[in-house]
Amino acid sequence: MPDQPRPRVLSGIQPTADSFHFGNYLGALRQWVDLQDEFEPFFFIADLHALTVEHDPKKLAERTRVAAAQLIAAGIDPERSAIFVQSHLPEHAELAWVLNSLTGFGEARRMTQFKDKSAKGGEGAASVALFSYPILQAADILLYRPQYVPVGEDQRQHLELTRDLAQRFNHRYKKTFRLPEPYILKETAKIVDLQDPTRKMSKSASSPAGIVDLLDDPKVTAKKIRSAVTDSDTVVAFDEEKKPGVSNLLTIYSTLTDRTVEDLVAAYDGKGYGDFKGDLADVVVEFVTPFRDRTHELLADGDELDAVLRRGAEKARAVASRTLADVYDRVGFLKA
Ligand code: TYM
Repeated sequence: MPDQPRPRVLSGIQPTADSFHFGNYLGALRQWVDLQDEFEPFFFIADLHALTVEHDPKKLAERTRVAAAQLIAAGIDPERSAIFVQSHLPEHAELAWVLNSLTGFGEARRMTQFKDKSAKGGEGAASVALFSYPILQAADILLYRPQYVPVGEDQRQHLELTRDLAQRFNHRYKKTFRLPEPYILKETAKIVDLQDPTRKMSKSASSPAGIVDLLDDPKVTAKKIRSAVTDSDTVVAFDEEKKPGVSNLLTIYSTLTDRTVEDLVAAYDGKGYGDFKGDLADVVVEFVTPFRDRTHELLADGDELDAVLRRGAEKARAVASRTLADVYDRVGFLKA
């Protein structure tokens, strides 16, 4: 395995909505931003994954651009990080095919995200792409031999499968892949829905009032925070079991202000939920307003955005094509 001057970090996000939401931002993107100094960073927009559920081809390219702009607005620096689009690198789909051959049918069926996403229409109506989605994700990761993959809790099982497949390949052929480690921060691993705090905030499952989109009108966002479900008592305290709604809001507040949860609990001692939610709404608006402005500014220069994605793809290709060449050699393919 070639030596890496700096260990790598890699992660991806799907362009399946008009905006990223607070779960994406707090659960994943913030960590991407923090890790880009210490590690060699690769971040991509998972447009191949967007085909696993019904999608609108008229919107996909635009959402991919909006995703790229949001990554930069969130603090991913295109000078330091390779920001790229998954479909620009055929290596992802090519390695996925090889990994398909190493994955058991039962193993893929155990993935809870497949069970959840196929539950509505039934397994028969789900696409084969949805079924093999985690194997493509494993390919995304293993191509770059990263040390860390910063994600939210919902991706943990996919990371476990990735490690299993890496180990299996290394064992069956020759040591080729590095075993990646999930990088999941406990505090923000699962941001929950504002209206139903027993569920995670999710673009596919949350109601509009339960999800905070980063690109929403800040006034709408403030209203959503003020109307978030809390509970029948009035004490601002952190208890994920008994007070999941308030605890979620405390997590959001704490992460956006760098104040500890204990500090916030002490500050709101004796005050009601109204004050607490009102102040948090202000904090959130202060965060999303410049984020939104910056995203729109970046989107206004489409040529520059495309250039960033081209440069990102070049950096990514230099790494991905070498890994794929090793894999093809090891499985015994005749050289082209
Ligand atoms: P996606 O696009 O659903 O979400 C992007 C990131 O946001 C995290 N996330 C959350 N974290 C905390 N609380 C939440 N409510 C919440 N909702 C979303 C996700 O965990 C994720 O880190 N399969 C991936 C995309 C992907 C990928 C990869 C990730 C494709 N290939 C390779 C890492 C490495 C997905 O659908 O994420």
